[in-house]
This record gives sequence, C-alpha cells and structure tokens, in this order.
Amino acid sequence: MKILVTGGTGYIGSHTVVELQAKGHEVIIIDNLSNSNINVLDAIEKISGIKPEFENFDLADMAKTEDFFQRNNDIDGIIHFAAFKAVGESVDNPLMYYRNNLYSLVNILQGMKDNSIPNLVFSSSCTVYGQPEELPVNEEAPVQKAESPYGNTKQISEEVIFDTTKASDIKAIALRYFNPIGAHESTEIGELPLGVPNNLMPFITQTAIGIREQLSVFGDDYNTPDGTAIRDYIHVVDLAQAHVIAVERMVNKNMKKDFEYFNLGTGNGYSVLEVIKSFEKVSEQKLNYKIVGRRAGDVEQVWADTNFANDELGWKAKKNIDEMTLSAWKWELKLQTEK
Ligand code: WQD
Repeated sequence: MKILVTGGTGYIGSHTVVELQAKGHEVIIIDNLSNSNINVLDAIEKISGIKPEFENFDLADMAKTEDFFQRNNDIDGIIHFAAFKAVGESVDNPLMYYRNNLYSLVNILQGMKDNSIPNLVFSSSCTVYGQPEELPVNEEAPVQKAESPYGNTKQISEEVIFDTTKASDIKAIALRYFNPIGAHESTEIGELPLGVPNNLMPFITQTAIGIREQLSVFGDDYNTPDGTAIRDYIHVVDLAQAHVIAVERMVNKNMKKDFEYFNLGTGNGYSVLEVIKSFEKVSEQKLNYKIVGRRAGDVEQVWADTNFANDELGWKAKKNIDEMTLSAWKWELKLQTEK
C-alpha cells in the first residue's frame, strides 16, 4: 500500500512510518518541520533501510495541498498526525491552533474528496473525554467540553470528519491516544521536545540527565491513592502498531461503520509518583523533584477501557511501564552522546 503520513517526522509519526515500512508499505511524508527535524528521515532509514519520500510544505496552505493530491492520487490511505499539540500554548494562542489544526484537516479532506482517496486515520486524543464520569473510560463515554483550545480542535476535527464521511465516500478511523511515552529500541528515533518539555516523561529524563534542575510534580492533593494525578501511559511503538492495523483495516474494507473511533491505551493507570518510581528503578538513580501546586487544565485521573480496540482491531499494548521509562531513558542518553 502507498500511505501518506502527515507529521511523519514527528514523535508518533516517525515511529508509525517505521512500523509501516516493516510491514512492506510504501510511505510518503508531508511535514512542515515546525516541530520536528529533517534528520529524522535519515534515522528512519537507519532503522528500516528505506528513506521515505518527503515533501516539506504547510498543509494549512490549500493550494499546495491541492497540488500535492493531484500529483499523488494513487494513495491508498492517509494517517494524519500533523497538528500543534501543546495544551498550554493553545490557551495562549488559540487562533494559531484553530487555524493550523482545522485548516490542515479540511484541506486534506478536500484533497481526498477531489481525488477519490478513500481512507483516513486521524490522530485524536483522550482529552475529548475531559474528566470521565466512569473509569476506565470507553468509546461511548460522553465527549465533554474541552479543557483547552488544543483539545477543542480534536473534538471539532472528529465532528468535521464524521460529517464528511456521511456526505462522501471517505471512510475514517479516529484513534484516541492516552499518554504516549518511550522511544524505539534502536534509540534512532524518540521524543524531541523543542524548548522546555510540557510533558512528564521528557521532563523526567531531562532532569535526570542534568538539563533541567528539578521536576515539579503538579499537585499531590488529588483524590488518588498517593495524591498525584493518574494517566494511562502507552509505549509509542505499541501506539504506532495500532495505526498500521487501523489503516490496513480500512484498505482491506473491514470497517463496520464509515467512521470508527478507538481508545489506544494500556488499560492501566499510573500516578506521577509511580512513574517516577519506575524511572528511578530502571535508571538506577534518584530523581530530583518537588511537589508544587496543581497545573490548570489537568484532569485528576483517566485510563482507558481497551476492550473495543482489543476485540475489534485485534490489537493490545504489550509494553509495561518499566519498559516505557527505560526506553525513554536510553533515548535521552543517546541524545546526549550526539551533543
Ligand atoms: C502527565 C501528568 C501532569 C509535567 C497531554 C495532552 C494530551 C497529550 C499528552 C498530545 C499530569 C504531570 C507533567 C510536569 C507533572 N498530548 N506533570 N510535571 O497533560 O496528561 O496530556 O499530553 O497529544 O492530549 O493533554 O500529559 O505529560 O503533560 O502530564 O507533574 O513537569 O504528569 O500534571 O498529571 P497530559 P503530561
């Protein structure tokens, strides 16, 4: 199959490209490199032996996107990662998020419609659930008002896709990620946060390696066993493999509805302190952290009911929390050797 991966030089995108190539699929990447590095293409080639085709332009540019699809109307499926995804930044700069994330999606859907490209896998997020009433959270849980413009762009995107599948031959699968962490075992690719990391795992590894002074734990007064917030962390390779299964499901016409959505988590929730404990165990070093106040917009606890993805996709996350934190640490160590 020929698969377009937008945002394919990014964290989850690059890991998905590697898994697609491992299954023998031809990959073409579009990325504007606004939050990733072109060297990732060489890293992918080091892993798979194949350097993916690459085009560098902004999908929010309608003319350039139209031109791309006219030149590539033999694409079997699209996996759409390209979007801005920093929760805090989206609060400070909502218009940048609505323009980038929504214009890009609409341009892609228009290109699919005009060139009879049928299949779209969309990178969504568990943020659509807000703080779920019931845990674990399943796909039928109500979508709640987004806590941030970032989360809102994911909710709106799902609605735009749903409406488009009803009015066209386009089929779509939205994958609602929980918390992706870790890195490929080769340490050739991994998370490359630009500037100060927003997310927990890169902040932990950068603190441990000495780039950051100390990790701040955002609140220990939640209604959880140790007081810190709980998330469903999932290894990025497990997540990537689910994308390959999803796009193959569509191309092989195994879908049961024109628009399907799946939770991609492990079904296990870990608190911030439990992640720190895992990291200290696998890295064999103490982490310098302090408890501070809660972060605005954080939900208290969320983890996935994975039964639908397990049964329907025949996919189940394999790696445990120690494998995740160890792979993140090995990646950080490798980054330091390249400085
Ligand atoms: C995890 C936990 C923090 C940093 C967000 C997006 C989600 C997805 C993943 C894009 C929370 C705590 C964090 C720190 C901390 N993004 N924390 N100190 O907020 O669950 O999810 O990122 O797809 O859509 O919403 O992830 O890694 O930021 O936080 O204590 O320095 O770690 O409070 O409890 P989050 P996170």
